[in-house]
Amino acid sequence: MRLIILEDASVVADWAARFVLQRITEFGPGPDRRFVLGLPTGGTPLGMYRRLIDFYKEGRISFKYVTTFNMDEYVGLPRDHPESYHYYMWNEFFKHIDIDPAHAHVLDGNAPNLVAECQRFETLIREAGGVRLFIGGIGPDGHIAFNEPGSSLVSRTRVKTLAYDTLEANKRFFGNDISKVPRQALTVGVGTVMDAHEVMILITGVHKALALAKAVEEGVNHMWTVSAFQQHAQALFVCDEDATLELR
Ligand code: F6R
Repeated sequence: MRLIILEDASVVADWAARFVLQRITEFGPGPDRRFVLGLPTGGTPLGMYRRLIDFYKEGRISFKYVTTFNMDEYVGLPRDHPESYHYYMWNEFFKHIDIDPAHAHVLDGNAPNLVAECQRFETLIREAGGVRLFIGGIGPDGHIAFNEPGSSLVSRTRVKTLAYDTLEANKRFFGNDISKVPRQALTVGVGTVMDAHEVMILITGVHKALALAKAVEEGVNHMWTVSAFQQHAQALFVCDEDATLELR
């Protein structure tokens, strides 16, 4: 595990986008060789997506032969709801680049059989050859994707009931009304992300400082699920100075 400390959130966004650019470029994707990228939503990666869109517009990167898998999706929100992760991904990223929609996978939180949908997602990842680079964000309670405190560190894609802290953290997207935040989500498991060849976790802001300290300075602990990535052979934690305030 490597910890990269950068000045502020905008430098983190730029650094992360350059890292993705470099990884995709050196891999050299093509029709028979797709780069498989795992992606998060939330506030943290927005700057990275904007930089990647700039790189695409400048002709420095193409996503034509990139396959993406998103980490998670709310259960029961219509796909075109402004807070659904489908909507977020299309508006913030996919519609601005040349990705093939058939290769941009987001879990379907309205599937008639949610368990089957989670299994289908795991199968798709396996059939794509596994994730080459999984990018993640964490919550102030150390969750990665919707792997809330107490989640199994070998968990796979599944239905999760969200922790109160997550409802509280995400209510800002639902008019600050916690009752409007969906109570369940589909999420990749910690084990699903651990299987990726490389993992890059973005952590910015003083409100994530305790989570970063728990993630890197204490032992692996299922109450801080992001700490599992201490044991990943190719994990990067990329953070800003504000997020380091609780480090010893
Ligand atoms: C998003 C996700 C979550 C977020 C985390 C941080 O797909 O899985 O783990 O990355 O909740 O969210 P922000 O970036 O909004 O602080």
